[in-house]
Amino acid sequence: MCLTGLFLCSFLIVHLTGNLALFKNDEGLAFNQYAHFMTHFTPIKVVSYLLYSSIIVHSVFALFITIQNKKARPVAYAQKSGNGSIWSSRNMGVLGTILLLFIVSHMSSFWYEYHWGETPYVKYETDLNTGKTTTTEISAADYTGYVNYVTNGIEITKSKNLYKEVATEFKEWYLVLFYVLAMLAMSFHLVHGFSSAFQTLGWNHSKYKPLINFIGVWVFSILIPIGFASMPLYFFFK
Ligand code: HEM
Repeated sequence: MCLTGLFLCSFLIVHLTGNLALFKNDEGLAFNQYAHFMTHFTPIKVVSYLLYSSIIVHSVFALFITIQNKKARPVAYAQKSGNGSIWSSRNMGVLGTILLLFIVSHMSSFWYEYHWGETPYVKYETDLNTGKTTTTEISAADYTGYVNYVTNGIEITKSKNLYKEVATEFKEWYLVLFYVLAMLAMSFHLVHGFSSAFQTLGWNHSKYKPLINFIGVWVFSILIPIGFASMPLYFFFK
């Protein structure tokens, strides 16, 4: 669980960094180019399959451990004292379940739609002298596959418009709320999960523990959830 968990943490850094292209004021050109690259470059496709397997392994092991814990103590404690543990460390199963539901719903909206759904198509024409870009929505009939080339000083890009899919989805207040709450759950899950993974690996030497705790709190439970939550909020208020 700790290895798959740390791998999922590293995915979050890459995913957040790539998604920052959503904030570029270019009608989605950079984001759509990035999405195409991430879904068509073979080494990244291999890592993606590792990612899907990690999500499954992490969830199955979590369920297995919860069942084992229940079997080890079939009668619940009469008094529920935290024994000094923080709330999130005692609720990792609930937080993880919320996150799993989030990931399933998130992947069906974007990942599934992008690969097999009805994502719209777009054509960008950028004048390389002036830097001005013209954006035109195109029909499925005009889209014969992703292209990116330069002709007569104009850079042409035709791609699926995943940016529009994201922007449209985040106009719905209940989806924005769902994302923000899921990021809150992720924050609590990671405040315990990140440092706990190092403990499991035995890498909790007193010399490194403050650094691990610092990264766990500031990067994984504050910066990254806020970064993700800012995306639906940005499109909602845009
Ligand atoms: C809230 C801001 C987020 C936005 C705007 C966003 C956007 C996207 C988009 C557009 C895709 C489809 C592109 C593709 O197939 O590569 C995607 C895929 C995915 N997202 Fe997110 N995402 C966000 C947060 C998250 C979070 C917090 C998680 C995990 C907890 C997550 C997990 C995933 C996974 C597992 C995939 C499939 C990746 C792959 O196929 O390699 N996303 N996301």
